[in-house]
Amino acid sequence: MVKKKSSKRSFYLGVPLLLLIGVIVSIYFWQMRLQKPMEVNMANHEHSSGAMSEAAMHTHSATGVSCDSIVPKETSGPTRKFDLTAAKTVLQLDNGKAVDAWTFNNTSPGPELRVTEGDRVVVTLRNKDIEDGVTLHWHGINVSCSQDGVAGVTQDAVQPGEQFTYTFVASAPGTYWYHSHQMSSVQAKKGLLGSIIVEPRDKSALLSSAKEVTALYQRLDSSMLLNGSAKGLNVPGKAGEQVRLRLTNGDNETMNFSVDGAPFQVIAMDGHDLHEPGLLNGTNIPVGAGQRYDLLIKLPESSKVIVRNQSAKGLSITLGSGSEPGPTEGGAMFSFVDYGTPLPDDPSSNRRPDRSFDLRLGQSLFVKTINGRSFHEIPPMNVKEGERVNITLVNEGGGDHPFHTHGHTFRVLSKNGIPLKGSPVYLDTLLLKDGETYEVQLMADNPGLWMAHCHNLGHASMGMTMMMNYEGITTPYRGGTKSGNLPDL
Ligand code: C2O
Ligand code: CU
Repeated sequence: MVKKKSSKRSFYLGVPLLLLIGVIVSIYFWQMRLQKPMEVNMANHEHSSGAMSEAAMHTHSATGVSCDSIVPKETSGPTRKFDLTAAKTVLQLDNGKAVDAWTFNNTSPGPELRVTEGDRVVVTLRNKDIEDGVTLHWHGINVSCSQDGVAGVTQDAVQPGEQFTYTFVASAPGTYWYHSHQMSSVQAKKGLLGSIIVEPRDKSALLSSAKEVTALYQRLDSSMLLNGSAKGLNVPGKAGEQVRLRLTNGDNETMNFSVDGAPFQVIAMDGHDLHEPGLLNGTNIPVGAGQRYDLLIKLPESSKVIVRNQSAKGLSITLGSGSEPGPTEGGAMFSFVDYGTPLPDDPSSNRRPDRSFDLRLGQSLFVKTINGRSFHEIPPMNVKEGERVNITLVNEGGGDHPFHTHGHTFRVLSKNGIPLKGSPVYLDTLLLKDGETYEVQLMADNPGLWMAHCHNLGHASMGMTMMMNYEGITTPYRGGTKSGNLPDL
């Protein structure tokens, strides 16, 4: 009797529970169908669930200019050639772990590419044995459309045994990085990334004597690494010496850095110099995923300087020699809103935009969203060459969202409605914390088809990715399972 009763009760409980699970599972699959569509034309200006008519597609391609035909301009600078071969490699890390990594030239990060402003950079990518195919995206460098390395937009993924040669002019000096943009969330974490540094053609006396230190952080499977090491970085140096530290966050989460032992300056963000950057003492530096910060640090008399990554405790950078510095008082978070000073005659402040967009970054159940939609269901920002474009970005939840634009550097105009008071700030990746609003402005001066997405690549792979498309530009490439081009899976 007792047994029967309880089985009856569990029946009445079980049915709604099963229904609920059924509903959740179907929502999950309904949302996930977006992640792997059969075929998407990323130049499709309507993006009405990818259901553009054949006729409309043909009109576009008949009148348009193909992204393929948009190639770099000539430059008087010298040509610098590099070869990068992607391959599966078992890496023996210095924490004792052996990792099945995907590497460039058998290392992860891949080799640092160092060029000079104005150089013509020619990089031949070969794929030895990465079955899904690979590409190279030049994060932060405003290359021509055909060279942007986005599988399914600017090229097909490079298959095993194949190669692709990228050419671009290193027109703006700064700290940049490269990574595969085929299944980027998978491939960057597997190791397909590296630094590219563009040195200025004319260096100030101060900066040309400064010691250069690149610090690229990444997560390789479960290990956090700094320049490929699970230990820290030790840079010897004498008192009075200047160190230029190029911090790059190649992981998906924001990293907070502290600097103990000396005051320092933030001299560049995302490669772009700040104007009259002041001395900071004990200020913490939040580096969003994909962002770069260049710090200038003068080594003090008798103690070391320790730059700590609070998000990866073992990966400190020790500069100089002498005693351990005590922890610096302070702990304030760096804010660029009032850092440095305005340019005396700033050419482009407060000009009215030709076009404005609002992007609300958030999430719904299993997907990350922009204005409530995901992936190719997000209408692209359609622009025309020559336009001044304002974008208002809001983080409505779901974690930090470092928003990255391809092909363009934007200027930050305001944060939470307050205009920037200090140096002009130019970025390609803007870190938005929960609840924050920023207004940015860019010049539509690089015709093409450009991705814009959260650089927490996990978020991008869950839908927080869209396009900024120039009117009249088409692509012969397609994203989706049919072509195998899945740029941000
Ligand atoms: Cu560094 Cu589309 O990314
Ligand atoms: Cu995000």
